[in-house]
Parts: sequence; structure tokens; C-alpha cells
Amino acid sequence: MSRIVLHERDRPYLVKVGDQELHLCACGLSANKPYCDGTHKKTLDEKDGVYLYDHEGKRTKVESFYSKQ
Ligand code: FES
Repeated sequence: MSRIVLHERDRPYLVKVGDQELHLCACGLSANKPYCDGTHKKTLDEKDGVYLYDHEGKRTKVESFYSKQ
């Protein structure tokens, strides 16, 4: 069984731990999870809709998407 996991956020979460600031990936694209590696910048020009990113970072817009909502 495969799953599609949707990430709607286009920037990291900033978490403060003591004196440290951690940037946690919320876009799902970082190669260094759970930390942000800046890859979310690829998502900044997305319009409405759903996009798939392959392992090489190539983006494809999903034309037909089923949602349970
Ligand atoms: S939030 Fe995912 S790479 Fe930055």
C-alpha cells in the first residue's frame, strides 16, 4: 500500500530550545529531516492545487485529486 502525504506549509517551523533556534521542515522536501535544508523555496511559486515532487525534485501538478474532506 502506498500513501500520499500532503504538506501545505511552505516554510519551516521555528522552535526555540534553550538558546538554540531550530528550523524544522514542514514542507516535506528536506533531505535533512527533521531539519529544514532550504528546499521549501521550490514551493514558493506554487499556485492553488496539489503538486507531486519526485526524488530528484521535479514538480508535477496533479490535475485530478480525490480528497475525503
Ligand atoms: S521547510 Fe522543508 S526544507 Fe525548509
